[in-house]
Amino acid sequence: MQVIRKKAWALPDSTATDETIYRSRRTLLKGLGAGTMLLAGSALPARAASDPTADLYPVQRNLRYRLDRPITDEKHATTYNNFFEFGSHKGIAKEAQALKLRPWEVRIDGMVEKEMTVGFDDLIRRMPLEERVYRHRCVEAWSMAVPWSGFALKALVDFAKPLGSAKYLRMETQADPDTMPGLIQTWYPWPYTEGLTLAEATNELAFIATGLYGKPIPKQSGAPLRLAVPWKYGFKSLKSIVRFHFTDERPVSFWETLIGKEYGFWANVNPKVDHPRWSQATERVLGTNERVPTLLFNGYGEFVADLYKDMKGERLYM
Ligand code: MTE
Repeated sequence: MQVIRKKAWALPDSTATDETIYRSRRTLLKGLGAGTMLLAGSALPARAASDPTADLYPVQRNLRYRLDRPITDEKHATTYNNFFEFGSHKGIAKEAQALKLRPWEVRIDGMVEKEMTVGFDDLIRRMPLEERVYRHRCVEAWSMAVPWSGFALKALVDFAKPLGSAKYLRMETQADPDTMPGLIQTWYPWPYTEGLTLAEATNELAFIATGLYGKPIPKQSGAPLRLAVPWKYGFKSLKSIVRFHFTDERPVSFWETLIGKEYGFWANVNPKVDHPRWSQATERVLGTNERVPTLLFNGYGEFVADLYKDMKGERLYM
């Protein structure tokens, strides 16, 4: 979708996306059998036609979450990716098509009433689906704004029934050496893992994305389910999740294991706390390449600032 703008990031959110145009485009694509079409501007096959969850989309947008900038063009958000399991560069979208999506089982274990393994297709149909437009700020200082579909992570936490003693949620990505060539790089601490406190995981913003741009989420973006925690740097939002582990120990993530001095547990966005090797004051907007100021908590302070108000000694912003 092409959004015409003058000063892109400063536009009011009402101009960010024309809902009517967006919806009618979705309907049109559905009517045309979008699954057999090619994604605009790329040579990647859309996977909607063969996806057993395709009938669930599009879902109703939750208007509580608003943007201060236009939605990023789909072709940019789905062809400029970080997914190290498929390579250490941005152009992994083609390689990621090797990701095997079915069967896809999700393990819920650790400090829960009853450990379980649930098929993704069962899980998603138990969850309250909605669409949310969120900003995404990568620690590398680029950003995008996209319409995720999915469900609040809190719904999954409630479904998992953690014990009162559980304090953290550790999540793990699929790690399949047969389809993920990046796993050959054995110096990386696979599988890709990330963690949140339970207070963060049950914050209303924490979201599990199963769809993007009104369709099942593409493989390169983290199919069939990924995290979206928009007040944190993008590396926290792990892709292609296979495990939710409830624990009382603070998880040490993939990046923290690798370079703990640069990538910590909290990783909340803050323009005033530079990465040791570059400034975090501004960000490059994907698609337009404009440079715009970065906002504290990526602009989501009203939802999350309270989570951190009594944590003076913590490295909250890296
Ligand atoms: N999840 C996995 N499994 N592997 C990764 O390499 N990269 C992270 C995050 N999730 C990554 C991941 C980083 S650094 C970013 S910025 C976002 O995914 C990028 O998401 P996108 O490709 O949809 O923009």
